[in-house]
Amino acid sequence: MTRALFDPLTLRGLEIRNRIWIPPMCQYAVDAQDGVPTDWHLMHLGSLARGGAGLVTVEATGVSPEGRISPEDLGLWNDEQAQAFRRLTAMIHSQGAAAAIQLAHAGRKASTWRAWGDHPEGNVPAERGGWQPVGPSPRAYDGLAVAPS
Ligand SMILES: Cc1cc2nc3c(=O)[nH]c(=O)nc-3n(C[C@H](O)[C@H](O)[C@H](O)COP(=O)(O)O)c2cc1C
Repeated sequence: MTRALFDPLTLRGLEIRNRIWIPPMCQYAVDAQDGVPTDWHLMHLGSLARGGAGLVTVEATGVSPEGRISPEDLGLWNDEQAQAFRRLTAMIHSQGAAAAIQLAHAGRKASTWRAWGDHPEGNVPAERGGWQPVGPSPRAYDGLAVAPS
């Protein structure tokens, strides 16, 4: 049986209205560097849901502070963040889409600069919100600091 792009798909008890799924896309938009979703995320993800996607995936979200790729990444390790995520999820659902999230730990590729603006090479220093990356081995990612496990 041929499946078309706009056919629904059921995964266990979840019916997804079509096969247009939005991948996770880092926004580097948490200016407060606290991992808490902002109005930007509400607008960005909400508009994708409103546009008709079946499923909207929230960007790579750090499960711990040192697991973020950049200081401006989303995080999900405290109650304040969880509350703000509720608002995002409600918005996505209200527009008929399913909500997904990419939970992530950046390992040795953590504490890097967001994707725009002038900045030096290497990791973000502590005074700009950076931290010591933590990885599975002491092998550095190209151009970045060694991340002790
Ligand atoms: C602005 C932007 C941010 C992205 N952020 C993530 C991310 O948070 N996690 C991830 O796994 N991939 C990320 N990606 C990769 C996309 O998921 C990927 O481009 C998408 O799945 C489409 O695949 P393709 O580029 O091979 O066509 C990002 C891509 C873009 C353009």
